This record gives sequence, structure tokens and C-alpha cells, in this order.
Amino acid sequence: MNNLAGELIEKLYIDRSLTEEEYAGLIELRDEESAALLREYAVKVRKSIYGNSVFTRGLIEISNICKNDCYYCGIRAGNKHCERYRLTPQEILMCADEGYRLGFRTFVMQGGEDSYFTDEVLCDIISEIKARHSDCAVTLSLGERSRESYQRLFDAGADRYLLRHETADKEHYEKLHPGKMSFDNRMRCLRDLKEIGYQVGCGFMVGSPYQTAKELAKDLKFIESFKPDMCGIGPFIPHKDTLFKDEPAGSLELTCYLLSIIRLIHPPVLLPATTALGTIHPKGRELGILVGANVVMPNLSPVSVRKKYELYDNKICTGEESAQCRGCLSARMQSIGYELVSDRGDIKK
Ligand code: 5AD
Ligand code: FES
Repeated sequence: MNNLAGELIEKLYIDRSLTEEEYAGLIELRDEESAALLREYAVKVRKSIYGNSVFTRGLIEISNICKNDCYYCGIRAGNKHCERYRLTPQEILMCADEGYRLGFRTFVMQGGEDSYFTDEVLCDIISEIKARHSDCAVTLSLGERSRESYQRLFDAGADRYLLRHETADKEHYEKLHPGKMSFDNRMRCLRDLKEIGYQVGCGFMVGSPYQTAKELAKDLKFIESFKPDMCGIGPFIPHKDTLFKDEPAGSLELTCYLLSIIRLIHPPVLLPATTALGTIHPKGRELGILVGANVVMPNLSPVSVRKKYELYDNKICTGEESAQCRGCLSARMQSIGYELVSDRGDIKK
């Protein structure tokens, strides 16, 4: 291993912080040995906080209708080939009930920015889930909304909110999104969510178009200062009906490297081994856990809609029943010496 990489890793382990230039250097110096050292530290740190437990969240994909047109995303508004759907409140509640029976104690309602889901509609669903399953955490992942809206949903009982920042570099953000989406508003949303009292998740894609070590270093600096409760990172995967259809997918090894780094920056962070990671490699999610992740998010959506929530090509778990998905992940975790637990999975501060 390069000496400098070794020194940077020691410094990161002790200080939980590097400069932007140092992060960029560490990324550029990645090799098998530096990855192995980072992994060793990340797993040690993760085990000291969470042991061998892997938390699980039941993902309910409530709608693929989206007013935005993010250039990388398969359900962007401009994709005329995407067959649109929206679950009814009744269907969403049924997914949560089934999830509860299967042992999930937290549900993530994720969807495009669909104007049908007004505060009124969402508040009713959130309070009903909370009434039926008071020991569960409700997480929302529904994009950018006003502060007032976030406040109302929080008051209705939502506990957590996932909103990937996508990239911490404004110019890069503008290359991935159309002009009417704004980096500043994205950051405003994240700040508001935190101030309101949500447990907040940010995140980004690894290997998104135009991304270099410099942009990634900024993402890491952002994570260092924002201290998210959760951080979702997964490889970019091209989707056939997007501008970026011919771009290469993000790298498994780089994603794993960054997972380890993020664990060391913010030891208690809840870090999922994402579905995208499982899509680019058959053992991607196991590998994610083995480098420092501690969360998996099996799909709880009705099988009839799963193929339609296609953010990227060849997404896995689109033909499985919810019980199969959970069972499959549970077996995968056992196979590497970890245990899927039935728990809200709050951050240990
Ligand atoms: N590849 C990987 N991840 C994607 N996302 C959207 N499109 C893609 C893609 N093509 C991610 C974005 C978004 C989350 C819901 O999914 O980071 O925030
Ligand atoms: Fe923005 Fe899908 S259109 S994440």
C-alpha cells in the first residue's frame, strides 16, 4: 500500500476527519490493501456499536409518478415509456400490516414527487400506521417539500426522512438535474428536516456521470459536517430511457471503499447496503455489510407494481413476494455471520 494512503487511513480512524484534499487523495490511492485496512477499521467500529445486528427497513414504493426530471432516473417525468402507478392509502396500509407480521418495525414510504400525496393524504396514512403499529418508526422518502409540509408530516408521527443530497457540489448537481431543480433548495430541505427533529438521511450515487474524486471528497466533507443519522450510497446504474443510458455503472469496489470511509467519519451512522449494490453484484449487499454497512431495505411493495418502480435497469427483487425478500436477506446475512433483527433500528448516539 502507498504510505500516504496508510497515513490517511490512520488519521481518519483517529480524527474522524480529513481535509477535502486528503479525501480526494485517499480515493485516488485506492488499492486492495488500502481497501482492506479501511474495511478492517470500519468493521471494528461498526461491531463496537451494533455488534452483529443488521437492521432492516420495509420499503413501500408508493408511487412512481414524479414531477421532477432528474437526468439519471428511470421514473423521471420525461420518460414516456414508464408505466405509472400510485398505491391507494388502503394498499399502503396493507403493505405495512404485512410487513409488521413479517417482523419489520420500520417502514419507508418512498415515491416520486407526486402531487396526489398532499399533506392531508399523507398525515392520515402516517397516523393510521402509527395507530396500528405504535412500536414502529415511519420513514418518508418523498422528495422536496416545504418546511411547513415537513412539519405537518412530523407532527402526524413521521420519525425519519430520507433525501439524498445526490452531490455536494453545486455545479455537479446542475449537470445531473434540469434547471428548475435547485441545489440550494435541496440543502434547504435537509436543514429544515434536521431542525424539525427528524432523523435524517442524505446520500449520493457512486459513479454518477461527471463525478470525480473531487466531487466525492466534497460529499465526504458534507457528511462530516451534516452528521446525518442515515446515509444511502449506492452505485449509479444506467437506465435505458435516460440521457445517461450509455454511461458505465458505478464501481462495486469504490462503493465499498466509500462505505468504510463513511463508517469511520461518523461511527454510529445507519448505513444501508443498498438494492443498487445488490444489482451490480450478486453478493453486493453481503459485501456492503462486510465493509461497514449495517442496514438492509427489503421490498414490501405489492409485487404487481415492483417492476414499474424502476429507477435503473435490472433492479433486483422485482418478482419476489415480501416474505421471500425478507427471508432471502435474512439467509444472506446469516451466511456471512450477521443477524437480521426485528427492531426499529434507531441510531445509537
Ligand atoms: N442509479 C442508481 N441510483 C439511482 N437513483 C435514481 N436513479 C438512479 C440510478 N440510475 C437513486 C437516487 C435517488 C434514489 C431514490 O435513487 O440517488 O435519490
Ligand atoms: Fe428524481 Fe427520480 S426523478 S429521483
